[in-house]
Amino acid sequence: MADLEERSKRVLSPVLGHYTYLPLDRAEGSWLITKDGRRVLDLTCGIAVTPVGHCHPAVVKAVTEQASKLMHISSGVASYEANVALAELLATVMPAGIDTFVFQNSGAEAIEAAVKLARQVTGREGIIVFRGGFHGRTTGAATLTTSKAAYRRGYGALLPEVHVAPFPYALACPIKPAHDTETCTEHCLAEIDAMLEHEIPPDNVAAFLIEPVLGEGGYVPAPAAFLRSLRETASRIGALLIVDEIQTAFGRGGAWTVAERQGVVPDIVTLAKALGGGLPLGAVAAPRALHEKWPTGTHGSTFGGNPVCCASGLATMLVLQREHLIERAETVGRIVEEELAPLRRDERVREIRRIGAMIAVEFGDKAASKAATAGALDRDVLLITCGAHDQVVRFIPALNILEEDLRRGVRAFVEAAQGVRQATPV
Ligand SMILES: Cc1ncc(COP(=O)(O)O)c(C=O)c1O
Repeated sequence: MADLEERSKRVLSPVLGHYTYLPLDRAEGSWLITKDGRRVLDLTCGIAVTPVGHCHPAVVKAVTEQASKLMHISSGVASYEANVALAELLATVMPAGIDTFVFQNSGAEAIEAAVKLARQVTGREGIIVFRGGFHGRTTGAATLTTSKAAYRRGYGALLPEVHVAPFPYALACPIKPAHDTETCTEHCLAEIDAMLEHEIPPDNVAAFLIEPVLGEGGYVPAPAAFLRSLRETASRIGALLIVDEIQTAFGRGGAWTVAERQGVVPDIVTLAKALGGGLPLGAVAAPRALHEKWPTGTHGSTFGGNPVCCASGLATMLVLQREHLIERAETVGRIVEEELAPLRRDERVREIRRIGAMIAVEFGDKAASKAATAGALDRDVLLITCGAHDQVVRFIPALNILEEDLRRGVRAFVEAAQGVRQATPV
């Protein structure tokens, strides 16, 4: 039998990009174990999906018990405990007033549903998104995504009435001379005012849709002042503020939601990734009054809120609470930042930035970031990239990772990045 990589290349579509072809057998906590017994430290969390590590015993137990009791019944066909209990627990950790949920299967679905809700409720069509944002790959979500032009290439006309505003990412700003985040924020806010004057009438805007931290776009936090200003503008023009917390929630950004941390109350929050604790689950979260304006029967899903996925999400949240992992996210992020310190002197590193346990090392180009992650993998540490040019290495450790493993993993990355530097003179 040929190896997994060879077999997968024969039968699985090349449309899917691959960071690696590690032939996995299983995973435990922060460790991936390959078929030949190699142990690799996972600093990706399955792309921000497993905040309590892989196969946490409490999550496995909940999933197994649920699977042996009730594996599936559409949530529109009957009621079941896991579905309701997860919504009840979510209501206790969401920003003020956000107490009602509709479950979906993925992030992209949650995003599309949030847009449908915003359009129904406001009777308006326009959606303002932010350059560098990633909201998914379905046709609708791809229209809202601008983290890379490649995600739209060749797909023809997408959704109408989507407008793209600048995101305050000073390092990537084409306007010279280089400026600080505060100046960039002011400029971006002025651009939004100009858009509302010249491009889209304020009373056509159904919603602003923003990631509080650009995820795929490069792990770039939006300044709190920017988010607060958006909140004010949305309220002033009668539009909704949708905060896409699919990658940032459940402690990743240092709190249950980054919106809450930054003092902003959204109208709608989208959730997925860590929500299912390793199984596919998304959600649109909003105040009851908003959901009540969404006509019954105009949206739905066969699998959204599946019992096993909800049981997994519920167990994951309970572990986050029991093990105080939301509070620990800050410590996890600080440890990574400390260990990355030697790279601050490396002229090929443009910036090291962090919010909570989302940490980014931005290199000057993709060659450097890819060489550094390849070097880390040679040292048995898995890391992935992001950013418009894949020039950013992102650290997404489990929130319960052992300090010793984390320090060792980040040191291995630093060593790999420095090794590359020595091998390729700048
Ligand atoms: C912020 C954000 N929104 C939406 C999505 C899409 O989620 P999914 O891949 O589950 O459709 C992602 C996925 O990376 C994301 O990071």
